[in-house]
Amino acid sequence: MDYLKIEKSDNLHGNIDISGAKNSALPLIAATILSKSDVILENIPNVVDVKVLIKLLMMLGADSKIISENIVSINTRNISNTQVVYDMVRKMRASILLLGPLLARFGKCQVSLPGGCAIGARPVDLHIKAMSNMGADISIINGYINAIAPKGLRGSDIIFDKITVTGTENVIMAAALAKGTTTIINPAKEPEIVQLCDVLKQAGVEISGQGTNEIVIVGSDGELLNFSNISIIPDRIEAGTYLCAGAITNSSITINNVIPKHLEAITNKLKEIGFDIEIDSNSITILKARELNAFEITTSEYPGFPTDMQAQFMALATQCNGVSTIKERLFENRFMHVNELQRLGANISLLGNVANINGRTDLIGADVMATDLRASSALILAALIANGQTKIHRIYHLDRGYEKIEQKLSSIGVKIQRLKGDSV
Ligand code: EPZ
Repeated sequence: MDYLKIEKSDNLHGNIDISGAKNSALPLIAATILSKSDVILENIPNVVDVKVLIKLLMMLGADSKIISENIVSINTRNISNTQVVYDMVRKMRASILLLGPLLARFGKCQVSLPGGCAIGARPVDLHIKAMSNMGADISIINGYINAIAPKGLRGSDIIFDKITVTGTENVIMAAALAKGTTTIINPAKEPEIVQLCDVLKQAGVEISGQGTNEIVIVGSDGELLNFSNISIIPDRIEAGTYLCAGAITNSSITINNVIPKHLEAITNKLKEIGFDIEIDSNSITILKARELNAFEITTSEYPGFPTDMQAQFMALATQCNGVSTIKERLFENRFMHVNELQRLGANISLLGNVANINGRTDLIGADVMATDLRASSALILAALIANGQTKIHRIYHLDRGYEKIEQKLSSIGVKIQRLKGDSV
C-alpha cells in the first residue's frame, strides 16, 4: 500500500489554491437525481469520495461525463435501479445522501445502512425518522433501509433533536420534490447546506431560511428541476488544514480561492493562539507568531469550531506553550490520532471526550498510521516539525478528501514523497 515519507520541513512559504468542498460536492451530486436534464458541476474536487458517489450513481443507471479535471456533467434521466448496495455504502458512508432524492423521485429505494466508521457509530436514525414523517413506509431488512412512498412524499414539519448535516441534506432534497411545504426546525447551518439550498432555489424550488434555525421548502409535487451550472464552494476544511501547516511550522503562507467567512472559527482560534491573519476577499495569509499560546476548543456544529479541524489543531497544540484542552462533542471516538501523535512524542492525556495536550514538545519522526480522513492530515502536520523522517501509512484515508495533497504541500516547501510500500 502507498505511504507518505515526510522529512522535517519547518520553513514554509508561498501560496496554495484551495479545491472545491468535498462535503458540498457530495450532496450536490446526489441532488442531480432531482434534475430533468444534464447537470454541470464545476470546481468539483478530484477526490475518492466524489469518484465513488458518481460511480454509485452510474451503477443505478445515470450517465456522467468528465469535461475537465474539475468539471463533470451528470445525467440521471436513465436511472432504473434504486438499490444502493452495501459494497458501495461501506466504502463511502455519505452514500446515505441518495436516500432522500431516490425516494422523492421514484417513490421507493433500498439503501444499505452505512454502519459505523473509525470515528463513531454514525447512526442514521434521524434520516429514517424524517423520511417516515414525510410519508414513507420504512423497514430495516438485512441491513438495508427499505423505503416506499407510493403516493410520493408529503411536506411536513421536521424537528431535528440533534443537528445532523447529511440528515438535513436528505430532508432538503426529499422536500424539494414533495407535495406541500416542509419546515425543518434545528437544521444544520453549514455553508454546504446553504449552497445546496441556493442551488435548488435556482433550479426552481421555493426555499428560505438556509443558514438559520428554520428552513422552509415548498415542494414541486414530483416535478423534476431545471439545474443551472453549479460551481462548488471552496473547501473550508482543506483551507483550515493548510493554515495549520503554516501555523505548526510558524511560517507565513497564503491560501487562495477561499470564502474567509466560512473559516471564521478557525482563523479566530489561530489569532487567539498568537498568529496574525491577513484576510482578503478570497485569500487568507497566516503570518509568523512571536509565541504560540495554549488554547481551548470544544467542537460544535457550524458556525462553532468544526469537528473536522479537531485533529489538526491537536497536532498544532503540541507546539503551543502550556496545556491545551480539546473537547470533542460530536463524535464518540474521534481521538484515534492521539495514539499516533504520541508515537511521535506528543504529550497528550485523554479523559473521556477531553484531550489535554502538553506543549511545547519536540516531536521525533516515526512510522505512523492514518485512521480516518482528518486524522491523516493531523499526522502530516506533525510530520512537518518532527525531527528526522516520518512515514504515514494507510493514506487511502487521506485520498478520500484532499486533492493533490503532495503537490500542494511540495509547492510551499514540504519535503514529501508518496511511495509504494509493504502493507502495514
Ligand atoms: C457530516 O457528517 C460530514 N460529512 C462530516 O465530515 C462531519 O464531521 C459531520 O457532518 C459533522 O460536521 C459529510 O458532510 C459528507 P452528522 P454526518 O449527521 O452528516 C449524530 C469529513 O471529515 N447523528 O452531522 O454523517 C452523529 O452520530 C466528514 O469530511 C445521529 O445520532 O454527521 C453525530 O454524533 C467526517 N443520528 C452527530 O449526530 C443520525 O441520524 C453529527 O452527525 C445522524 C447523526
